[in-house]
This record gives sequence, C-alpha cells and structure tokens, in this order.
Amino acid sequence: MEELKLSRRIFLKASGGSAAAAAGTLLAAGTAQAQTAGATTGTTLNYPKAAVGKAGSMPVNQVVNFSYPDSSSPCVALRMGSPVPGGVGPNKDIVAYSSLCTHMGCPVTYDGGTKTFKCGCHFSIFDPENGGQMVCGQATEDLPRVLLEYDAATDTVTAVGIDGLIYGRQANVL
Ligand code: FES
Repeated sequence: MEELKLSRRIFLKASGGSAAAAAGTLLAAGTAQAQTAGATTGTTLNYPKAAVGKAGSMPVNQVVNFSYPDSSSPCVALRMGSPVPGGVGPNKDIVAYSSLCTHMGCPVTYDGGTKTFKCGCHFSIFDPENGGQMVCGQATEDLPRVLLEYDAATDTVTAVGIDGLIYGRQANVL
C-alpha cells in the first residue's frame, strides 16, 4: 500500500511538473505569437496621431493624398460612398492605405470605375472596400491599412496607426 501511495505521489508530482511544463510551453507560444503579431508591422514605437481631413469635405470615390506616419510614406484616404468594413466617419465609409504596392513598392493608383487600387509596374490590384485585400497580380500581401479615428464633434478623421508593414521598411515608425 505504501508503495502505491508513493507511486501516486510520484505520479502527481510528475503530472504537476508536466502541467507546469505545458503551461510554460503555452506561455512561450503566446509570447511567440505576440512577437509574430508585432513583426507584421515591424513597429514597437508609438504611432503619431495625424489629421487626415474633415469627413464632410472628402469627395466620394476620389483619393485624398497624405503622408503617414512620416513624410516619406505616401498614403491615400478614400470616402467610398457606402459603409465598408472598418470604415470611419458619419457613414462608416472612409478608409485609408499606404499607396506603395506591397510587391516592389511602386505607387498604386486608384481606379474609381472599378473601385480598386492598381499597380502599373506588375499589375497587382487591391480592394479598398475589403481591407486593401490583394485581388490579383504579383503582390502577395494586402495594402497596409491606415487605422483611422473619427471625431464627430469636429468632423475630423485622424490617422492613428497602420496595420501591415509599409513596403521597404523594417518598421513602420522610424
Ligand atoms: S510593384 Fe506593384 S505589382 Fe510589382
């Protein structure tokens, strides 16, 4: 019987050890996952807040050019004309993206007819109504999306971050 108790004790100790090891493994995996998420933007520094413009003065289906998070990063804001996922503003239809193609960094241009961004270098196409999703072409990643906030009191749209890594950078905020 004593032998059985001992075995049980040893078993429980071993199980506890295994559980702790498993918990440690899970924590390590969680940390690795967090590091991976950070790696997608390559940024550990804080993003600046930068006014993009007044929602009411943004023309529907035409780009508004601005730079974010610094002057060497061209971006465009768009008021799509109808609500889109992640859109801000009174109609939830304003979105913004880096205008550098994720393939090799050529500037993308907006085609209001098809409501897509097109890259003239190797013909990649991105969908601004669906998070900058890469539709076709040489690019393998979506356009980096500029995260926006809207202040109804002042009708101001403000850039507050970027989801995705700007082409050619190891970190979005330099
Ligand atoms: S740089 Fe845009 S598709 Fe190649």
